[in-house]
Amino acid sequence: LLDTATGWRAVINSHPELLRKLTPRFNKYIPIRPNAKQWVALLLNNVPEVFYGGAAGGGKTDWLLAEALQYVDVENYAALILRRTYSQLDMQDSILHRAHLWLRNTEAIWQPKQYRYLFPSTGATVTFGYLENEADKYRYDGPAFQCVCYDELTHFKESQYTFLASRLRKPPGMPVPLRLRSASNPGNLGHGWVKDRFVKSNSADRIFVPAKLEDNAEHVDIASYERSFAILDPITRKQRREGDWDADIEGAYFKRSWFTQFVDAEPAKLHAARAWDLAATQGAGDFTSGAKVGTDPDKLWYVCDIKSGQYSSLTVRRLIRHVAETDGKIPIILEQEPGSAGKTVAEDYIRQLAGWRVEAIPSTKKKYIRWQPFISQCEAGNVVIVNGAWNVSFFQQLFSVPFSAHDDDVDSVTSAFNWLAKNPSGRFGISFLGGRR
Ligand SMILES: Nc1ncnc2c1ncn2[C@@H]1O[C@H](COP(=O)(O)OP(=O)(O)O)[C@@H](O)[C@H]1O
Ligand SMILES: [Mg+2]
Repeated sequence: LLDTATGWRAVINSHPELLRKLTPRFNKYIPIRPNAKQWVALLLNNVPEVFYGGAAGGGKTDWLLAEALQYVDVENYAALILRRTYSQLDMQDSILHRAHLWLRNTEAIWQPKQYRYLFPSTGATVTFGYLENEADKYRYDGPAFQCVCYDELTHFKESQYTFLASRLRKPPGMPVPLRLRSASNPGNLGHGWVKDRFVKSNSADRIFVPAKLEDNAEHVDIASYERSFAILDPITRKQRREGDWDADIEGAYFKRSWFTQFVDAEPAKLHAARAWDLAATQGAGDFTSGAKVGTDPDKLWYVCDIKSGQYSSLTVRRLIRHVAETDGKIPIILEQEPGSAGKTVAEDYIRQLAGWRVEAIPSTKKKYIRWQPFISQCEAGNVVIVNGAWNVSFFQQLFSVPFSAHDDDVDSVTSAFNWLAKNPSGRFGISFLGGRR
């Protein structure tokens, strides 16, 4: 930025005080030369909340890590960096792995037990954590942090964000501002609240820095990013490629505002079932999804758990058996593909699941017709979500059908729901109260 605006450099160079004010705080632990957007965002030290949001590849994660490290040269400074789940933190390209790359040849020490880097000369720390369930936030309730960072903020709920905001503290006289920093693409579970909080309203205390892929052109291969965007559905592509916060298909089938009830664990007594949507062509990269849904006497519906992935047929067989064992004796519903092949597959599974009530249901009606009864309960606010790592991809699908590439989770959830609606508890003289064990 400073290089492109003509004349800037000369002005600044002849005024050292200006140069100091317009240069972000740096130290030897931050190995990058920030791009213009990152530079500007790194100057906002006295702004309590900064959100860097937009396109994938815009340099969000690098910026966030630089923010966390900005004050490690100050005695006892402490920063906390959060992802929604532990597995997201552990992924190859996660902010934690970025930190390992940046810090491996420095004197910073990785302390695996505390999951943090210690900077020996100052005693400063940068801790990594996750907030998978609502209760996880209490793990970060004790220690004081001067900077709390959230990568992929739209994976979080606003209550998690504000809870830790209230935990920012510092000892008297510590020369460090208290900061909340976050970065995210549009989309996901938290799209609505993040957009409301940062994109729709800006204030002096809360600043949104929009990021485009082009802002980071020096450091990314735009063509290869383009290829990876090409396979996405149009809405997700707009969100990831353009960082467009208005690209949201609110109202196609499911609306975000219908989901307000979240619990950490399902109630003990539920009339529940697990339904499996098996990959159509086994082993060919299709997704298999198994959803556990339950209902209680108050006629609330609980989406308890989803297991989904691109599994080989052997893995699917093992998984279904294993999940059946951990679920307990709840009925198992299998979506049966049309034709005799589908029938054979279903019969095979039924043999394998001796001891369980198993029903193979041919998938005949159109998807939308199958989904409609569940949509009605969602709209009425009768659907409760049990917190879990699977929430993110489930909501991604819910809000992007029918444009999304995948709808396996929506299929498995609705077939469990439809089965339960047709088979109320006790109808067969058996009580299926197979809740949490
Ligand atoms: N200032 C920078 N200097 C060098 N590389 C950068 C810089 N900013 C980002 N990158 C690199 O560009 C790529 C995309 O940046 P990243 O922070 O992962 O983007 P995002 O989190 O927005 O998807 C990463 O490989 C990252 O290391
Ligand atoms: Mg990132």
